[in-house]
Amino acid sequence: MIGGIIVHGDGLGKTLGYPTANIDVEPSSVRFESGVYAARATLHGKIYDAALVIIQSPWKVEAHLLDYAGPDIYGQELRIEPIQRVSSLERYDDIDELKAKIGRDITLVRQVFEDVAIREDRDDHVL
Ligand SMILES: Cc1cc2nc3c(=O)[nH]c(=O)nc-3n(C[C@H](O)[C@H](O)[C@H](O)COP(=O)(O)O)c2cc1C
Repeated sequence: MIGGIIVHGDGLGKTLGYPTANIDVEPSSVRFESGVYAARATLHGKIYDAALVIIQSPWKVEAHLLDYAGPDIYGQELRIEPIQRVSSLERYDDIDELKAKIGRDITLVRQVFEDVAIREDRDDHVL
């Protein structure tokens, strides 16, 4: 579990069309390697499916809440539980290529949650 207060990032996420909540968290408290993860985020006791991005250098932990359309959430506490790593971080010089990569990652994240939902549904029906 990763938890921290949401702080301002560089604002690039919004420009890319994928706003992210940057979380203020100590590197030593995070035991996950860098990359993109399907994750469950808890905000005010409500759970959201999320894409979690962990970057080692410069250190950054940020989350894009998949279907969140509410007001800005700066200053609030976000707790995140990574579920499955879906991709690595790549360097892009072309912003459209980066956008396309993020889109593909989000699709992978949604697939993880679909698979989880199918598994949970199947478990419900076990006699
Ligand atoms: C699902 C996802 C995958 C991402 N993958 C990469 C990546 O591979 N390479 C990269 O440079 N940025 C990637 N980003 C973008 C950055 O991590 C970050 O969102 C962006 O730089 C905005 O940061 P800011 O909120 O500090 O402005 C990804 C973002 C998301 C949401």
